[in-house]
Amino acid sequence: MKLLRMIFKIDILPRTAQRLFCQRRCTLTRALVIVILTVLVVFGILNYRNGHVIRNVDRVTRHPPPTPYTTCNSLHNRPLSNKGPHNHNVQGDLKIGRKVLIVVETPFSRNAKNIAIGMESARFVYKIVEGNKIPTLTHMGKGRFGIVIFETINLYMTLDDWSRQLIDKYCYEFKVGMIFFMKPQNDNGVSMEKFPDFSLTVHYNVGIKEYKLNPDSRVWRITKPGEIVSETFPEGEWAVFHFNHSTFEPLASAIQIASFYDDYEPSAANSNKTVYPAILDKGENDGIRRVFFGQDFSFWLHSLMLLDSISYLSYGMISLSLERYIQIDIDDIFVAAIGTRMKADDVVALVESQSRLQESVEGFHFMLGFSGWYYQHGNEEENLGDRTLLEYKDHFHWFPHMWRHEQPHKFSQDELLNNMNLNYQFAKENGISVMDQYAVAPHHSGVFPVHDPVYTAWKTVWDIKVTSTEEYPRLHPAWGRKGFVHRGIMVLPRQTCGLFTHTYLLDSYPGGPGRLEKSIHGGELFKTFLYNPLNIYMTHLSNYGNDRLALYTFESVIKFVQCWTNLKLKQGTPMDHAIKYFDMFPEEQMPQWRNPCDSEKHMEIWSANKTCDRFPKFLVVGPQKTGTTALYTFLSMHPWIRSNFPSKESFEEVQFFNGNNYFNGIDWYLEYFPHPQDKHEYLFEKSAAYFDNILVPKRVHNLLPNSKIICILISPAKRAYSWYQHMRAHNDPVAVNYTFNEVVSASDSAPREVKALRNRCLLPGEYAHHLERWLDHFSYRQIHIIDGEQLKDNPIGVMDEVQKFLGIEKYLNYTSIVRYDSKKGFYCQVLSDNKNKCLGRSKGRQYNPMDEESEDFLKKYYHKHNTALVQLLGKLKIREPAWLKDYTNTAR
Ligand code: A3P
Repeated sequence: MKLLRMIFKIDILPRTAQRLFCQRRCTLTRALVIVILTVLVVFGILNYRNGHVIRNVDRVTRHPPPTPYTTCNSLHNRPLSNKGPHNHNVQGDLKIGRKVLIVVETPFSRNAKNIAIGMESARFVYKIVEGNKIPTLTHMGKGRFGIVIFETINLYMTLDDWSRQLIDKYCYEFKVGMIFFMKPQNDNGVSMEKFPDFSLTVHYNVGIKEYKLNPDSRVWRITKPGEIVSETFPEGEWAVFHFNHSTFEPLASAIQIASFYDDYEPSAANSNKTVYPAILDKGENDGIRRVFFGQDFSFWLHSLMLLDSISYLSYGMISLSLERYIQIDIDDIFVAAIGTRMKADDVVALVESQSRLQESVEGFHFMLGFSGWYYQHGNEEENLGDRTLLEYKDHFHWFPHMWRHEQPHKFSQDELLNNMNLNYQFAKENGISVMDQYAVAPHHSGVFPVHDPVYTAWKTVWDIKVTSTEEYPRLHPAWGRKGFVHRGIMVLPRQTCGLFTHTYLLDSYPGGPGRLEKSIHGGELFKTFLYNPLNIYMTHLSNYGNDRLALYTFESVIKFVQCWTNLKLKQGTPMDHAIKYFDMFPEEQMPQWRNPCDSEKHMEIWSANKTCDRFPKFLVVGPQKTGTTALYTFLSMHPWIRSNFPSKESFEEVQFFNGNNYFNGIDWYLEYFPHPQDKHEYLFEKSAAYFDNILVPKRVHNLLPNSKIICILISPAKRAYSWYQHMRAHNDPVAVNYTFNEVVSASDSAPREVKALRNRCLLPGEYAHHLERWLDHFSYRQIHIIDGEQLKDNPIGVMDEVQKFLGIEKYLNYTSIVRYDSKKGFYCQVLSDNKNKCLGRSKGRQYNPMDEESEDFLKKYYHKHNTALVQLLGKLKIREPAWLKDYTNTAR
């Protein structure tokens, strides 16, 4: 220590530190540690700028950036025999649906999953079933499926007779095609199998090279033949097809490579001959068209060939468009660690690359998202780069990011307005003309999960109408990303191209350069172009300096797309993209709120003052007039159970999941719940209109997948009558002017408002139908059904059951806190002064008994529904209520 003191003359500092931090009994060493820590913290604070740390990175050693390459015939001006893209549409009346049926050995196999992912990525509707579990194929004289895919030919051959006849008959009658994949056999040597039913012989375990597509096939639409696959596939990987009938047309040919085994044919004779690893059966034999692929779905070209085969065999019914809209965002212009930013020559390279890309992508411009505060925050060379970017500003399209790259969810409305205004001023001062009402939030923060102040500030400062995120509904899987509309701003899905802030040199690409190459040449990146009609890519400033990896990546993949596909690449404005996107997928306009607490990434970009504990643990969903208010009251008496705050607008119920309130988002919803004071507390919501609303079960499941659901059932006829009386009490003109019988038996030609009341009386009582919908999303273990008659007569027993179902540890005995009130005719709450507190006049009304005619009508009306309910409850092993006893026999 003495030596240290002598060398660094640090006596004074530690003593000051001693005085400051340690008072009397502090050793020099401790003080020294404190000083070092203090310096580090101050340094850290100075460098930490609103979530973005500017670091001096060791200067990146600069190799010449890699040049985009591809071995593409079409781009080397060699003659192409491409006659496509072929149009598969036919005139006339096809009686098939747009759904794909996939028959697999098990839905958990890699191949089955890959095919399913392919269908999801293409947004085709599909059903996946195990062999022999063939679903109903027709509905009202129409075929439900437009194509049938078999995981393997053997699966089809081993179907039981009944299933196979069913499928064959269906495909023949409805002109539906079949597609077969092949699985490697995994045994040694080439083997052979004859399929006399198809006049076909298959050789398994063949090795092939020089795979190429038949240029004359009419199957090709997106696929552009003319190229040769560069890969050689060793023995054991492929099945090839031998045929001797005009019904077959090769879709692809390849050269067989020498075999190590002589089991089937001598290897010399077998090698170097042309074989067919994909063929089309035109249906001349038996009227059914088929495509056979000689390998499973993992071969990259199969994604392309499958799309075209589906389109061809379904007569264009299940087909993707040829247009692909592309947008490449450089989100964080001016934001990158010193030493990794763009320099002047990188800017020139960016302009040059843009001109080259414009030859392949109509209307192409790089989209530059700026955070003005970071302008001129690099080293000298990089600052010149910044200035050069502004010099060339009119070559690009610009959009606002955030002034200091702040993550919006951490800021209030006023702070955001202030920050955005500073960025706005920056754009104005530097003559940057900002593009078409589009903005992007740093780290996707505030867009989803929604932080409303960002949306408001965007609209106020920039009049933003379009944004994009990779976080909706969640980051993974990438093929599942979607769009939505919130507060009038259209949120588009965004893709990642495999380049991130720290990806700046090809040689140090995570997983090795080969990984990026694979993604470009038929892998993940290529497939995003293939499947997505709109591709908005996110990239970073550092991907354009250094190795200029982004230029390499995009120029390469776009060349590859042009080599192998007939896709037409274009770029419009973000507004054009948004309009096109929601025209294609109108159902996506409606958001599907997810629980941020289910995703680590969402938690990172959700405001710290919001908490998952505020979400309800269970919901009382109705239906209306079954005793939901009584249950709500009894539940609220429990010290560990707390309800939502009452809403002024909708009769105390929040009614979030069923109507327009849903568009207010989850922040709005959470405001209806108290902050729990104890982790044992159970928050719940009661909204009786949830039970029969078609949208609600899915929405609840999306947001609260683990919640428990309680519903109460009484005789549906009684429920209908109670609703009618409720409407009469509210002076509803129809209920006042029409008898109950006139309402429930109203025909479809009755006045609109009469039909509306009829429907509200009758439809919620179709219990089995509504319960099935809840069961589509929730396990039966999450659903508790209360017999409403029991709730009336024995609420103490019912509350015991409810507590058991909720698993609530603190048991409350209701015996002494509710009792029957003879004046009210119902059970009421016992107050501390021993008086009864009953529900108000609107609950437990006095009215005349139902007329006989209506009783008969309703008995008939609900017969099939009640019978279905008995069956459903039986399946779920739930004891049926006494009022269902009459239907027990019919149901069995
Ligand atoms: P009626 O008023 O037609 O008799 P909801 O709260 O779902 O609107 O249901 C109202 C119904 O709850 C009432 O319909 C009544 O029959 C029933 N109910 C069950 N237990 C009750 C209780 N303890 N007090 C008042 N009504 C009760």
